[in-house]
Amino acid sequence: MENKLTVKLIGTGKYVPKALITNADLEKMVDTTDEWIVTHTGIKTRHKVEGETTADLAYQAALNAIQKAKFDLELIDAIIVATITPDFASPSMAAVVQARLGLNHRDITCFDINAACTGFVYALQVGAALLNSPKYRHILIIGAETLTKIMDYTDRNTCILFGDGAGALLIGRGQAHQTVSFYTASEGDMEDVLSVKEVLRMQGRRVFKFAINAIEKSINRLLELDGSRLDMVTKIIPHQANYRIIEGVAELKKLPLNKFFLNLEHYGNTSAASIPIALDEYVESSPLLPGSKLMLVGFGAGLTWGGALINL
Ligand code: COA
Repeated sequence: MENKLTVKLIGTGKYVPKALITNADLEKMVDTTDEWIVTHTGIKTRHKVEGETTADLAYQAALNAIQKAKFDLELIDAIIVATITPDFASPSMAAVVQARLGLNHRDITCFDINAACTGFVYALQVGAALLNSPKYRHILIIGAETLTKIMDYTDRNTCILFGDGAGALLIGRGQAHQTVSFYTASEGDMEDVLSVKEVLRMQGRRVFKFAINAIEKSINRLLELDGSRLDMVTKIIPHQANYRIIEGVAELKKLPLNKFFLNLEHYGNTSAASIPIALDEYVESSPLLPGSKLMLVGFGAGLTWGGALINL
C-alpha cells in the first residue's frame, strides 16, 4: 500500500516501566558478557514491567502525549494500538485505553494492529487514512509492548535484545503542505525466521540481513514516492533493534550515523513501541520545524517492513 496523505503531528509521549535489566543482570542468566552484547548490539539496558500491563504502558504514554500537547482529549475520534503483546485477545488494548482515558461516552473507533516491529508505521498509515475520511479529525496512535513476558531467558540469542515500553502520537488533519508518504510491505511465509508462539524465536543472522535490506528499500521507496532526496531529510528515526543494523544501512547509503536518531542503548528493542519512543525523544531534543522532513522506518516479524516520510 503506497500513498501520500495530509497529516499534522499534534504531540508525542512515552512511558517506560522503572525496573531495568542490565547487561550484568543478563550475565547471571545466560552465557554472555556485557562486552559481547555492547559490541554486537549497542544495547546496555532495557526496561521491564513489574506488575504493570501492556494497557498500563499504553495508557501512560497516551496521557503523556495528551498532557504535553495540552490537548483536549474529548476531541479524539479513534485510538489505534500497535502491539504483539496485548494483555488478552479481546477487548483490544485500544478499547481499554479509551475507558482509562474516561472516553466511554464518546463514539470512538478503537482497535489494535499486529505488524510486529513495523506495527507503529502500519498504525500511523491506517490512522492517516482515517483522517482523510469524513468523520475523523484527531487520532491517538500508540505502540505498546511488554516483550519481557514472551522472552525465553535461557536463550541468549534473543533475551539480550528486547525490553518493555510504550510511545504515543496524536495526529490531526494537516494543511496542504503537511503530507506523509507511506510505504508498507509484507512477506508472509517467513515465520521460521522470526515469530512469537509461546515465546519469541528468531534466526538472528537472517533477521540482521533482512533488516538492512528492508531499511534500504524503505528509504529508497519513500524518497521516490515523496519526490524527495535523502539530503532533504532532516532525521531518520528507525526501529531500534541493533546499532550494527543502522551502521550497515549508513554504510550502504553513504550517510553519517548522526543522520539516524538512536536510543536503543537505553531501551533495547521495544518492537511496536520503539519508533514512537524514539520520536518522542527526538521531538524533546529538537523542535519540529515547518519545512523539515522526518523519516520513520520499521521492520520486523511477518516479515513486515515499511516507513513514513513526514513533511512538517
Ligand atoms: N552472548 C554471547 N554469544 C552469543 C550471544 C550472546 N548473547 N548470542 C549469540 N552468541 C554467539 C552465537 O552462539 C555464535 O556462536 P558460535 O559461533 O559459537 O555458534 C556467535 O555468537 C555468533 O552468532 P551470530 O548469530 O552470528 O552473531 P551476530 O553477530 O549475528 O549477533 C544478533 C547476533 C542476534 C545480535 C544479530 O544477529 C542481530 O541483532 N540480528 C537481528 C535481530 C533483530 O533485530 N531482531 C528483531 C528484529 S525486529
